[in-house]
Amino acid sequence: MQRVGMNAFAFVLYLSLPGASAYMSRYSCNTTADLFKRQGLTSETFLCAPYVNYTVACDLDDDPALGFNPSCNNTFAVQVYANFERALSVYSCRDYSRIWTCDNCTVAYKRWLCSALFRKCNQDYECPENFTSETLMQDFGSLADADSAGTNARAIPDCVMKTCQDVCYDVVRKCPVHLEFRCPPVKDLREYDIRTCNNLERPSTDNVNALSSASSPACPRC
Ligand SMILES: *[C@@H]1O[C@H](CO)[C@@H](O)[C@H](O)[C@H]1NC(C)=O
Ligand SMILES: *[C@@H]1O[C@H](CO)[C@@H](O)[C@H](O)[C@H]1NC(C)=O
Ligand SMILES: *[C@@H]1O[C@H](CO)[C@@H](O)[C@H](O)[C@H]1NC(C)=O
Ligand SMILES: *[C@@H]1O[C@H](CO)[C@@H](O)[C@H](O)[C@H]1NC(C)=O
Ligand SMILES: *[C@@H]1O[C@H](CO)[C@@H](O)[C@H](O)[C@H]1NC(C)=O
Repeated sequence: MQRVGMNAFAFVLYLSLPGASAYMSRYSCNTTADLFKRQGLTSETFLCAPYVNYTVACDLDDDPALGFNPSCNNTFAVQVYANFERALSVYSCRDYSRIWTCDNCTVAYKRWLCSALFRKCNQDYECPENFTSETLMQDFGSLADADSAGTNARAIPDCVMKTCQDVCYDVVRKCPVHLEFRCPPVKDLREYDIRTCNNLERPSTDNVNALSSASSPACPRC
């Protein structure tokens, strides 16, 4: 049981390693309607339905380590989420924090998982419907730029919007420390960002009730 749980965390670590081979090299921007059709989903069976209502950047290739394609994959999302819930059930959800409960942790984790598996296409760029890191290099010429923090911005093509840092740190804040969920250091902006970023149209998961009401704040192009 522990072991199954740990697979979810191996996946977490894997996600924080941009630059892993074949990571984000060939992408396609798909609508959620397209995902529903291809995967036979409904808003009841789509795990990320409350979070993902935007054009999604899907990797076109299998992950060589996993042997299948985890990107935009609802079956995989459901599996990882179930593993997480199993791992969480090992801990006493009563006494790990005076503020947070396992429900709060689960909500934060789900939001993060959805952001990681269903990346948002960055509509601020005239991105082609499908694209590779190489074509983007020619089109925008900016992939190799180092950012002000001195990290390499190559990790994520400009057509894929980075996830808001808070989406990750929300999980660290709200989940039992023993789960050892980690985010990249705040200065590492390869995968996460703080200004223009995907927060899944939810400013924070602090208010669970606000989460279920579908109103999205000003979001010019989504
Ligand atoms: C996204 O669309 C492309 C073609 O436009 C398709 O090959 C791919 O399978 C789609 N991805 C998903 C996850 O539906
Ligand atoms: C968002 O949801 C609405 C209603 O379900 C749907 O009509 C629309 O196509 C969705 N937008 C995207 C970008 O998936
Ligand atoms: C989606 O993930 C499951 C594992 O959860 C895997 O068996 C399946 O092959 C994946 N789908 C694709 C299209 O790779
Ligand atoms: C992009 O789509 C076009 C037509 O849909 C196809 O010919 C081309 O091979 C695709 N490119 C990639 C990189 O998938
Ligand atoms: C934490 O979860 C509980 C149970 O779902 C909820 O009542 C409470 O509002 C949540 N706390 C915050 C600050 O969102």
